[in-house]
Amino acid sequence: MKRIFSGVQPTGTLTLGNYLGALRHWVHLQEDHDCLYCIVDMHAITVFQDPALFKDQTFEIAATYLACGLDPQKSILFVQSHVPAHAQLGWMLGCKTPMGWLNRMTQFKDKAGKDKEKASLGLYGYPCLQAADILLYQTHLVPVGEDQKQHIELTRDIAQSVNSAYDVDLFTLPDPLINTHAARIMSLRDGTKKMSKSDPSDFSRIHLSDDADLIAQKIRKARTDADPLPGSFDQLEGRAEAKNLVTIYAALANMTLDEVCQEFEGALFSAFKPRLSDLLVATITPIGEKIALLMNDKRELELILLDGAQRANELATTTLKAAEETFGFWTP
Ligand code: AMP
Ligand code: TRP
Repeated sequence: MKRIFSGVQPTGTLTLGNYLGALRHWVHLQEDHDCLYCIVDMHAITVFQDPALFKDQTFEIAATYLACGLDPQKSILFVQSHVPAHAQLGWMLGCKTPMGWLNRMTQFKDKAGKDKEKASLGLYGYPCLQAADILLYQTHLVPVGEDQKQHIELTRDIAQSVNSAYDVDLFTLPDPLINTHAARIMSLRDGTKKMSKSDPSDFSRIHLSDDADLIAQKIRKARTDADPLPGSFDQLEGRAEAKNLVTIYAALANMTLDEVCQEFEGALFSAFKPRLSDLLVATITPIGEKIALLMNDKRELELILLDGAQRANELATTTLKAAEETFGFWTP
């Protein structure tokens, strides 16, 4: 069975972009793959996290995993910092990664902003820790949104260079698995920007915890244009916001992009938007309700995450030991 690994940072309530680009896909994969889904808290601290909120954010991601349908009987669900091998292998891989490769990472450039001198070493080395996450479990496939493709390709390059430098088969080479139907869900305020947890405007995104009224309000206010919908998706060229809403509709209704255009050909957004809201409410609100319920019983979440950490630790230790032997560490 193919091994799957993926993760989300506990930095806020997940969005529709996370759900369609990642989580919904993960739930299907657990049926016929050997899956590990991690809450990557060590990645999250590459930017400041308020210690008073951070634990709860971790629990909220765990609750979201379960509410979306991840099943601890089928997948290993765990917190990254509970498995020390991630940090250990992350350091070792950092010693094998040329700065030239890290300099090309667009996520670093985006997050570091203009003043790169002030960016932390952790933010810069972030992809080496991500490579460790993936390589520790001999992962074959990494289901992520489009924005993460570059990090998975870098992981593959690091794995290949270690394997060939030491002439060993230490690491399995992973491939990204991008859900092409919803690879990149865009902001509701600007169709050229990714829908993101960190956008300053709450109206740019739909949270999995939003209630029906808020979802309807956000869709009503979503930026669009005054033209009617065409009969095929190709004809939406140059209309980024319109494309995004059609993409969301298609993903939620399990239709192709052209099928959605055919169904709404000639309709204005004033007619399309209420239908999109109804679909969103039907999908999202049950997830939000489940998250709220699970957050009321943290003990259950704790038990699931502790069990997951134990199982992940066993798998990770095998690869870490092999890596230490390859590098020539004295391992008593
Ligand atoms: P993040 O919120 O950046 O930790 O991302 C967690 C997962 O959700 C990653 O696999 C991302 O690629 C995916 N993701 C985040 N935002 C979007 C989006 N707007 N569209 C599609 N996938 C996304
Ligand atoms: N970098 C990913 C993000 O921002 C999160 C992540 C960390 C991850 N480690 C991973 C995703 C390993 C896939 C596999 O979304």
